[in-house]
Amino acid sequence: MPRPLRLGVNIDHVATVRNARGGRAPDPVRAAKLAAEAGADGITAHLREDRRHIIDSDIERLRAEVALPLNLEMAATEEMLGIALRTRPHASCLVPEKRTEVTTEGGLDVVGNYDYLTRYVSELGAAGVRVSLFIDPEPAQLDAAKALGAPVVELHTGAYCDAPAGTEREAELARIVRAAAHAEAIGLECHAGHGLNYETVGAVAAIPTIVELNIGHFLIGEAIFVGLGNAIQRMRALMKDSRV
Ligand code: PXP
Repeated sequence: MPRPLRLGVNIDHVATVRNARGGRAPDPVRAAKLAAEAGADGITAHLREDRRHIIDSDIERLRAEVALPLNLEMAATEEMLGIALRTRPHASCLVPEKRTEVTTEGGLDVVGNYDYLTRYVSELGAAGVRVSLFIDPEPAQLDAAKALGAPVVELHTGAYCDAPAGTEREAELARIVRAAAHAEAIGLECHAGHGLNYETVGAVAAIPTIVELNIGHFLIGEAIFVGLGNAIQRMRALMKDSRV
């Protein structure tokens, strides 16, 4: 019996479109409610330092109006820690953040920032927030996450998704497969995400020790053509079919 695979729907880019005009529509909270109806298991939102998409009131409203667990992606900063401790999401995924990047470019360097991250992991954990660390699929990063006391890691699938189909993508997939096995061996819950689409999701969903995928940009883009509910349902079906 395969372990269930959860789908967290990242709604950041509904807010990107909203903010392009500065008004209230489209509303990311409405998208989250629709995602819930379509069978998402959780909602993911990244509150960036520059508030380029999700803004503070979105987080408050997601907590108040949406029943699904909220995974708050955030940089390890004093400001974000305060917001997470106040709003108490189900989970916080710590991500690296650069103002100049278009999206989260690489994983968190847990090895290099071990001492700095200690307080974030322990304070969030003590508040009952499930901490995950967004890392590249490297054994040393997994070992550091475990030593730090984080219960969950999310493996960055961006390099795999960006690689041209064929040998390069296979090599990136092999790194993810090895990292997911290592996570299991050392007792970390393993999630994955970034850049996944209909074409790339199957191979990741097939990895038995990965129990959650967080997917945003592709689903929101696809929603333009087929509607958000349909896009989520198709993604779920592909995940299910690959999980044998
Ligand atoms: N997981 C993490 C930690 C992320 O930072 C992002 C992007 O915000 C995602 C998943 C979703 O990536 P995408 O929008 O490319 O599906």
